[in-house]
Amino acid sequence: MGGQNLARLVVVSNRVPLPSEKGARAGGLAVALTDALTPGSLWFGWSGRRNARPEQEPALQTSDGITFATIDLSESDYQRFYAGYSNSALWPLLHFRLGLVNYRTEDYEGYRSVNRRFAAALEKLLLPTDLVWVHDYHLIPLGAELRALGVRNRIGFFMHTPFGPPAIMRALPHADAVLDTMCAYDVVGFHTETYRAAFVDCVQQMLGATPDGAGQFRLDTRIFTPIVDPIGIDAEGFSRTAAQAERGAEARRLRTSLGERKLAIGVDRLDYSKGLLNRMEAFGRLLARYKEHRRHVSFLQVAARSREDVNEYRELGEELNRIAGDTNGRYSEFDWTPLRYMTRPVRRRTLAGFYRLAHIALVTPLRDGMNLVAKEYVAAQNPADPGVLILSRFAGAADEMTDALIVNPFDADEIAEAMHRALTMSLEERQDRHHRLRQHVWHSTARRYCEVFLDHLDESDDSESPASETGQLSATAFAPLAGNI
Ligand code: ADP
Ligand code: F6P
Repeated sequence: MGGQNLARLVVVSNRVPLPSEKGARAGGLAVALTDALTPGSLWFGWSGRRNARPEQEPALQTSDGITFATIDLSESDYQRFYAGYSNSALWPLLHFRLGLVNYRTEDYEGYRSVNRRFAAALEKLLLPTDLVWVHDYHLIPLGAELRALGVRNRIGFFMHTPFGPPAIMRALPHADAVLDTMCAYDVVGFHTETYRAAFVDCVQQMLGATPDGAGQFRLDTRIFTPIVDPIGIDAEGFSRTAAQAERGAEARRLRTSLGERKLAIGVDRLDYSKGLLNRMEAFGRLLARYKEHRRHVSFLQVAARSREDVNEYRELGEELNRIAGDTNGRYSEFDWTPLRYMTRPVRRRTLAGFYRLAHIALVTPLRDGMNLVAKEYVAAQNPADPGVLILSRFAGAADEMTDALIVNPFDADEIAEAMHRALTMSLEERQDRHHRLRQHVWHSTARRYCEVFLDHLDESDDSESPASETGQLSATAFAPLAGNI
């Protein structure tokens, strides 16, 4: 790597899936990029650990030729940067939940200072030809901090959450300053045109950025290109895994426990953006309204605990325990538990087998950047006897996956009706819908996502950058990247 015509890929994200901590992992970003990195790449970010006296130098480990460079956070950085500004201010705001935004000035300061610290640590590891790809809302200012340190590499940023129009973004304390740092990147990526357009409205109306032709924008001396690039999965690989996992021990146990009953499944992080309360409520309404489904369907909700240091997440967990207990108390019979609710993460392979057994997947977030569970579910199906995807119109995935049963996730009655429709749908309609959904999932893969983004980052090369003096970076320069996705 680092050869004349070969740029090294440096991925930066808050969460880094360290090889030393293999196991069940919930989170779309980590999953998609795990598929994308290949030997020679560097992945930089938080170790996931808190430490009273964190080292300034990153800890390095290498696995399958990929170097993982991570730093610990102090307790106060963790509270301010991660639990605070990232997950109590930015996350609810970016998911249009203004009422949940909990802002403290010290959190914002912690957010900026951790981004500075990340930049200082990363800068020492960078080669002049590296392509740097920063991910997600935790690290918005990282590019600007790298630029302040004199880094002139091509740097791209990808926002994995939705992005709101100026009316929403203006509610964020320090919105202008944060938005301004997004303009320090060469390329800024979003999952849908709606999010990209909202970003463009924000930078034009709030900062005065101007279009500069060919999709570029200019703000003072900076030129940046906002793009749409939907994330996907390794559809073929996931499909194979699901077909094998269906014959595995866990899937067999699940099937035995179901008997002749149909299975509905939900798989999410335990997050208020995922619409879990409405979904459970909807299942109760299905059983109340359509008595013929009682005893004939079980709903398995896997909701991996997430961000438990943030109040809203703890409260949601308590509320879900209550509603799950309530639904089971009301409808259970001595030999049938309607709702199976678990908060432990499940191994990816096991999940694949569960998806394949499920007649329905409920993917009903109130707002979601993309939602990879929807794509995984489609990829896992047996085309001869596929299940039905019920999908929120407010998931980024709904832009592409229009052959799902699209619902308003705020309307529990509409979700219940969709479940009834799915449970009674003819094989022919299921096959038709699945066939078309499959085409999207096989087209818009993790591999394509990476290639499209890196192609744009390459195109943003300017004549002064050190990389362009030494090599012609092109999509082919990323050939190793495409290798195993
Ligand atoms: P997010 O990034 O907000 O968590 P996505 O749906 O895009 O949402 O991605 C979630 C990823 O994490 C998927 O790959 C999914 O399989 C995995 N995942 C989600 N919930 C669980 C869970 N409860 N157990 C194991 N893996 C999970
Ligand atoms: O996709 C949203 C996201 O924040 C990812 O960046 C992250 O990997 C995932 O959710 C899990 O969240 P956390 O890192 O807070 O556990």
